[in-house]
Amino acid sequence: MLDWSEPKTNPLIAVSSEPAAVPVADATGLGEIERGAARVSVDDKRMINCRADVNQLLPLKYRWAWEKYLSGCNNHWMPTEVSMQADIALWKSRDGLTEDERRMIKRNLGFFAASESLVANNIVLAIYRHLTNPECRQYLLRQAFEEAVHTHTFQYIVESLGLDEGELFNMYREVPSITDKAAWALEHTQSLDDPSFTTGTPEADHAFLRDLVAFYVVFEGMWFYTGFAQILSLGRRNKMVGIAEQYQYILRDESIHLNFGIDVINQIKLENPHLWTKTFQDEVRGMLKDAAELEAAYGRDTMPRGFLGLNASLCEQYMHFIANRRCAQLGLNPVFAEAENPFPWMSETMDLKKEKNFFETRVIEYQNGGALSWD
Ligand SMILES: [Fe+2]
Ligand SMILES: [Fe+2]
Repeated sequence: MLDWSEPKTNPLIAVSSEPAAVPVADATGLGEIERGAARVSVDDKRMINCRADVNQLLPLKYRWAWEKYLSGCNNHWMPTEVSMQADIALWKSRDGLTEDERRMIKRNLGFFAASESLVANNIVLAIYRHLTNPECRQYLLRQAFEEAVHTHTFQYIVESLGLDEGELFNMYREVPSITDKAAWALEHTQSLDDPSFTTGTPEADHAFLRDLVAFYVVFEGMWFYTGFAQILSLGRRNKMVGIAEQYQYILRDESIHLNFGIDVINQIKLENPHLWTKTFQDEVRGMLKDAAELEAAYGRDTMPRGFLGLNASLCEQYMHFIANRRCAQLGLNPVFAEAENPFPWMSETMDLKKEKNFFETRVIEYQNGGALSWD
């Protein structure tokens, strides 16, 4: 059964030969067919700047990517399966939630609503084009669908609670602490957005790595985690339990997205050690530090006074803890002084074995889908 408690290091593939000096394969897979070309050898497969046909999944080189694809498929869920009745009653009640809680919930939903689309667009329009490996692309296709399910979740929440859709979906343009985060991430995908952008030079390959760090490590691996902590802490107090359950599903998906992104970056490092310079490492550490500061500002904005067990300074400490963890996963020195995890319950929330078994039930239900009758 899938272990999604925390991203772990996967056995990445050791490099047997030098990086490709000249990329010979067509990165899109949509170019002219090379009739009678030599068959694909595993050794020619590469994360970026590959030499092998990107249309051939087999022979597999990166089993870790394939396994993530299988895990994602086993985790299938839909937001509409979660009952919103208790949330609707609480949201409509006069005194079930404080004004502070309402502010935090709305801003949290507003942050996620647009962020899921930003992440999806980055996968499909930037990362997919330049990650030249079929097993990684197979996972990206699955991830793109999961991001669509996540966006659907926010549509379903807005509809269920009768929220102002314009207010929520525009927060990334109208609430400065949310805009600042989105704008920071988008800066790192802008050069890839240029249709003429291709990898293959250290400068371009660095731009691609920056995009991976900004979206996988920061957006999905840092910022989403404060968002999860905010909603799950309400859920622990029996408030907005439907949304909290949906966030648990999203968190399960996101922990694989993050894990995949970390593995991709580490594999690119292994295959292209010339890219992982001290200067670039310092730049990545700087990115994580900036991202934690942006998150601290978002925390102060969404929780000016704080609630039981959750406030802006604890969220800032949590970001320091998470940023240091991400550094360790990338083989970097920590960016903050040693920080303790102020929300140890987050890892319990993520541990299926200690929680109710509804995830397992869903998986079995979907796996039984093959027995549908077609008459
Ligand atoms: Fe997502
Ligand atoms: Fe994601």
